[in-house]
Amino acid sequence: MELCIIGAGYVGLTTGACLSEIGHHVAVTDCDAAKIADLERGRLPIYEEFLQPLVEGNQAAGRLRFTTEAPAAIAAAEAIFVCVGTPPDRDGKANLAAVERVTRQIAECAAGHKLIIGKSTVPARTAEHIRRTLDTFARNRASFEVVSNPEFLREGTGVYDFFHPDRIVVGCDTAAAAARMRELYRPVLEGLFQCPCHARPAADCGWHAPAWMETSTTSAELIKHAANSFLSLKISYANAIADICELAGADALAVLRGIGLDRRIGEAFLRPGLGFGGFCFPKDLSAFLEIAAELGYDFRLLREVQAINAERVALFVRKLRESLWVLEDKTLGVLGLAFKPGTDDTRLSPAMAVAHELLKHKLRLQVYDPKAMERARAELPPEVVYCGHPEAVAEGAEAVLILTEWPEFRALDWTAMKARMLRPLVLDGRNLFRAGELEALGFEYAALGQGVVAHTTSAAAPVTS
Ligand code: UDX
Repeated sequence: MELCIIGAGYVGLTTGACLSEIGHHVAVTDCDAAKIADLERGRLPIYEEFLQPLVEGNQAAGRLRFTTEAPAAIAAAEAIFVCVGTPPDRDGKANLAAVERVTRQIAECAAGHKLIIGKSTVPARTAEHIRRTLDTFARNRASFEVVSNPEFLREGTGVYDFFHPDRIVVGCDTAAAAARMRELYRPVLEGLFQCPCHARPAADCGWHAPAWMETSTTSAELIKHAANSFLSLKISYANAIADICELAGADALAVLRGIGLDRRIGEAFLRPGLGFGGFCFPKDLSAFLEIAAELGYDFRLLREVQAINAERVALFVRKLRESLWVLEDKTLGVLGLAFKPGTDDTRLSPAMAVAHELLKHKLRLQVYDPKAMERARAELPPEVVYCGHPEAVAEGAEAVLILTEWPEFRALDWTAMKARMLRPLVLDGRNLFRAGELEALGFEYAALGQGVVAHTTSAAAPVTS
């Protein structure tokens, strides 16, 4: 199929490259001409595993192109994906200005019959507004079918997620539109692809046929917000359990595993720590609260999810302060700045929030992140020291803080790290280690949910924000 993707952000770029990989001809457009020029030269604006070779390969094969000529790309496409940003306004509501602008542009440029597929995360009933806007501004005797096809791609594993989805949700009004969508995704539904993450056929890389779900556009829109909010809820629940475990002197990781082994609950998203961040969960949660309120429902449960998450950074800093007593003039090592491993994204990263909070205390921060240093540099004050190697953060440090659970941090030479430190204290904000592992090397170790630093307070002493 001839496809047009409007918006070359995380969602649009990953979706466009993956759709070209399964055989479609894809034109990706964006109003940012510099971004398109970079993409044409093979320079990606984000780090996403497997994306660079996917883009290069499909560009070379003539299936993927980048263009600022949106009208021509819209006119040539059978289906147009709307992947523009919906950033939060001050009140937490999603700002739909870009969605509206793009919808009007489609109405003005399109001719013939088009599928308009919403991928941006939007409030319930946005598809209805899109439909009305298309009807109002349509020229050239164009006709449209509006589809809501929410994306569930995680940053860092977006390419993998495209080829191995749990479900594909399609909200639309007609059987004809649903059939076109099924055709569009057929290679993923039937495992007819070579997995770019494993360089093996789908059948040999753990692919399972995803659930195919057809529903109304409004239901599809709600599924996206409801799913992300539920995952946020699981994380805040895990963090609340972690705090209770500290108070009770129990091991949160054991308790949460014991909960998660119940198949009705599941182990995923029960990792306690600094809480959730990134550009999706916090934004989607605020937007869903607003959507519910506008519909007349006060979603109290989700307000509490937000509140628990908001406390995590203060709790962590307080725990550090209880160990170090005074923070001023000390040197601290920081491992991890991205909001989670596998990405260079620092937006609403709890790690960055900890760094900002600590820098209020006039101390020296030596930081390292495998991918996010450049982005952090643009955001943090100039006195921060950026280390060329993770072990260098330990030099003269009175504590090393693990703020993002990059797996490579586990594999560091921790004995050598200890030798560089002024005091061998590790505060683990992500439960990268289990209690006892670093203590065996002579460290003082504490994590959120795994008790307090042994020599400072008793295990029963609560640390609350
Ligand atoms: C999320 C959704 O997972 C995806 O389906 C959606 O479409 C986009 O938003 P993403 O924001 O990339 O994806 O990150 P995700 O992997 O879901 O993690 C979100 C945050 O939760 C991260 O900050 C992560 O560190 C945190 N998290 C996750 C926890 O604190 N504990 C957990 O157990 C899991």
